[in-house]
Amino acid sequence: MRIIAVAMAKGGVGKTTTAVNLAHGLALAGQRVLLVDCDTQAQTTTFLGVSPPYGLYEFITGHDGAGQAVLKKEAVHAARKNLWVLAGGIKLVELKNWLGEQARDRRHAILRQSLKPGNQGLDYLIFDCAPGWDVLSVNILMAANEVLCPVALQGPALEGLKTFFGYLVSVQQLNKSLRLRYILPTMFDRRTRQSHDIYHRLRRLFRKQICDPIYHNVRLCEAPVAGRSIFEFAGSASGARDYRKLAERLIDDGIRQEDQP
Ligand SMILES: Nc1ncnc2c1ncn2[C@@H]1O[C@H](COP(=O)(O)OP(=O)(O)OP(=O)(O)O)[C@@H](O)[C@H]1O
Ligand SMILES: [Mg+2]
Repeated sequence: MRIIAVAMAKGGVGKTTTAVNLAHGLALAGQRVLLVDCDTQAQTTTFLGVSPPYGLYEFITGHDGAGQAVLKKEAVHAARKNLWVLAGGIKLVELKNWLGEQARDRRHAILRQSLKPGNQGLDYLIFDCAPGWDVLSVNILMAANEVLCPVALQGPALEGLKTFFGYLVSVQQLNKSLRLRYILPTMFDRRTRQSHDIYHRLRRLFRKQICDPIYHNVRLCEAPVAGRSIFEFAGSASGARDYRKLAERLIDDGIRQEDQP
């Protein structure tokens, strides 16, 4: 199973759009995917139009916060064919407090521990990370093997990246298997020079990690309002084409990885 964190400390760069559409793209290609919402905004589930009763809080703590025990399998919600979600939302505030109260030497590895028993035949586990940086962000990167970092091709994009890399390096000292695997340029606006400039700089800096860009596409903003992925909402839009391509790249890389001795 590949464990991928869609992460970037900067807000509004397309993390949730990427996590949701990539996860559904992979699911439509026959991969079994668990998508984990790590944000108090509960955007992941909103984007998919589902509102599960339980989620990541219950999955990790084993109860609902009001004395009722909750099994791990009850916390996982089937959202689509081949696609399951672990919901986030406001309860993650309590989860972060709870994580903060755990012993210093184990608090960062709690998520990794709770994911351990079996992977229920999953091919991908994808974390939709929140912006910023806290005890939950560290837990996610301790549990992940790969980071996919969306970079919006507008404004001071490379500044945000530098800050995030500082965080990443600090976790890599504890989790040696963590790799910055993909840099995904998002919101590429063909009409602006800025988009082209940032994209070319990223290509030079990250020859191996760079992915084909996700172009700016209004359909990608409209789909979540309807609670649907881009493939359900506008399967022939450029956003669907771009995310389909990204899913294909991940699958191809996975096959190549397996072929290596
Ligand atoms: N390629 C795109 N074209 C047009 N709009 C996009 C594109 N990608 C994302 N958006 C829009 O940009 C906004 C921010 O995207 P999104 O919520 O995915 O970012 P995020 O990084 O998850 O934000 P946050 O840091 O708040 O969690 C949303 O309104 C989304 O619909
Ligand atoms: Mg988000």
